[in-house]
Amino acid sequence: MTSTLDLWIEYILRFSHLVAGISWIGSSFYFIWLDSSFMPPSIPRHNVEGEVYMVHGGFYYQVDKRKIYPGEIPKTLHWFKWEATLTWITGFFLFAFLYYLKGATLLINPEALALSQFQAIGLSLGLIVGSWFVYDLIWYPNLIKAKSISIFLSLVYFVGMVFGLTRIFSGRGAFILMGVIMGSLMLLNVWVRILPGQAKMLKEAQAGQVPDYSVSLKSKVRSVHNTYFIFPVLFIMLSNHYPGIYGHHYNWILLIILSVSGALVRHTMVTKNTKERWLLIPAAIGMMALVFVSAIQPKVTTASAPNPEHLDYAYVKTIVEARCQRCHSTNNTDENFKVAPKDVVLETEDQLMKHKDLVIKQVENKVMPLANLTAMTDQERAVLVSWLKTK
Ligand code: HEC
Repeated sequence: MTSTLDLWIEYILRFSHLVAGISWIGSSFYFIWLDSSFMPPSIPRHNVEGEVYMVHGGFYYQVDKRKIYPGEIPKTLHWFKWEATLTWITGFFLFAFLYYLKGATLLINPEALALSQFQAIGLSLGLIVGSWFVYDLIWYPNLIKAKSISIFLSLVYFVGMVFGLTRIFSGRGAFILMGVIMGSLMLLNVWVRILPGQAKMLKEAQAGQVPDYSVSLKSKVRSVHNTYFIFPVLFIMLSNHYPGIYGHHYNWILLIILSVSGALVRHTMVTKNTKERWLLIPAAIGMMALVFVSAIQPKVTTASAPNPEHLDYAYVKTIVEARCQRCHSTNNTDENFKVAPKDVVLETEDQLMKHKDLVIKQVENKVMPLANLTAMTDQERAVLVSWLKTK
């Protein structure tokens, strides 16, 4: 019963997170497109900086871009803030549900740092909140005058975080935590820096004053940052399906290349300067570099394994029993995983063969046994993997 309930809680959270995220990113892409598509109005009109015509569902739509101006505030103004908020709330609950409960086993890597569940939770929450203050300070209006210095500091912080997180937590935990950190910066940008600025300008206009337009430029900076975060965050969310990436020896380099390439792709999508399309070249080189970096895997050396021809299932079975069945049997003894996760039961040779490809990937990349709680040795990994590969 508990496992069925667990399953549904996770499913509902993931589904809501996905739907909210699609709405957020959808509206964000739409505004990026709108902003780059405005043309000067065909007939000049007061306070209209640009207009765009679209066709959809059998109608034409006309959108004007106007400055917030006294006496011209529409009665009903639609704000875009709940998509972001709901994406964060559902995402954070999903993260906490999967990575904080059950002893935080998905987050901790005892071989890197033997944190307790509460230490892991405390540290990760501290890093999420702390990152906002660091980032907000780096980009605090007029604090650092040169934009290039702020960009440089942000990159240093990002690289440092990715490296640090992958040293402290499990690969998978480090990746998702980096995603949570960036998602949180995006949400806080909306609530702390963008919305209050807009509200202030509206208030001034409603009071009959011409608002201070420099506020909108400051909000715009954070809005632009959010668009740079989109692809890296999406990469991270999907990377969870690829143990070969987050479980890789150089997972931190892979994540940095993925994120920087994603940000470059975003830049060429948005820039009005067509010459800057050359940035797609380093992005493509980055993607190719990923293939090379991920190919250099100091994997478990199968050389130390006995010749697979001399191995039989009876021997492999003893390894699986000792290292996997605590969580992957019909009668689990693990206190957190009472039912075999993902329906992967490994009690018979047929079951092992059924999950052959997944098992090879998980064991070779040291993702399973989870947090190596059952202390599987490299020799045993080599035996299991080489036996499976001959099958
Ligand atoms: C302490 C518990 C634990 C132990 C021990 C353990 N696993 Fe797992 N295993 C898990 C959990 C939890 C998941 C689900 C992870 C997730 O949500 O993606 C999982 C998932 C898997 C999957 C499915 C992966 C996927 O992407 O669908 C495979 C295959 C697997 N384990 C193989 C193994 C093998 C082989 C061993 C032994 C060498 C092992 N596990 C030991 C807890 C464990």
